[in-house]
Amino acid sequence: MTFVVTGGSGALGRHVVAALPGAKAVSRSTGTDLLRGTGSGALRADVVVHCATSFRREVDMARAVLAAKPAHLVYISIVGCDRVPLPYYKQKHAAERLIVNSGVPHTILRATQFHSLLLRMFDNSSKLPLMLVPAFRFQPVDEAEVGLELAALAQAAPAGIAGEMGGPEVREAIDLARIYLDAKGKRRTLVPLKAPGATYRAYRAGGNLTPGRAVGKRTFADYLSG
Ligand SMILES: NC(=O)c1ccc[n+]([C@@H]2O[C@H](COP(=O)([O-])OP(=O)(O)OC[C@H]3O[C@@H](n4cnc5c(N)ncnc54)[C@H](OP(=O)(O)O)[C@@H]3O)[C@@H](O)[C@H]2O)c1
Repeated sequence: MTFVVTGGSGALGRHVVAALPGAKAVSRSTGTDLLRGTGSGALRADVVVHCATSFRREVDMARAVLAAKPAHLVYISIVGCDRVPLPYYKQKHAAERLIVNSGVPHTILRATQFHSLLLRMFDNSSKLPLMLVPAFRFQPVDEAEVGLELAALAQAAPAGIAGEMGGPEVREAIDLARIYLDAKGKRRTLVPLKAPGATYRAYRAGGNLTPGRAVGKRTFADYLSG
């Protein structure tokens, strides 16, 4: 079987490439732009694992990958993309439906937020002495573990909607921020941030969580300790 990983240079994609024998990484840096349609010949493979992403044009990207008609398309989506009304999540859900209705054999895995995303969020919010932290919970998962799962799914038969993959712990963001500050040796005043609107309400209600699928092993603290 031949494998191509779109977004193979990204936080997730590089782990999929490392775990799949002979996999080719494809992204703009290797000459394939899925939105401009350049270098699409590089998508020719038995299995395409689609990890590239576009904040505004996720559906167009999925369309470009489907046009290559792989024997098996593996797509990574987000837990709660049908519950949390963020524009990006709506696009992830629309891309899922496009793939399901495409006739292309596929496997779709939904994952919770990656450790690397929380790290980036806390790096940014800790630039100020008052550190604003969302007043809801996360269930962060190690993207390396998600990459291994995607690689296993890519080597198996198309499974349609695969199960969800969540991290080992559901924690308030403020607790995760404390873990971050301890690990980095920083002192900040933590301020819980509530917001009006449906998106905040959906997060607050746990729309981004999958406690019944807490299958990841590595906690956020493990991740930060290297
Ligand atoms: N981050 C999370 O917490 C999380 C959680 C659950 C699911 N996911 C999903 O996991 C996937 C990967 O996320 P990530 O955090 O690994 O993303 P990332 O680090 O931002 O990587 C994005 C990848 O897409 C490529 N790319 C961007 N625009 C492109 C284009 N026009 N044509 C071809 N390639 C393009 C980038 O490479 P170039 O810049 O070289 O093109 C890069 O390799 C996404 O679908 C995301 O929705 C993420």
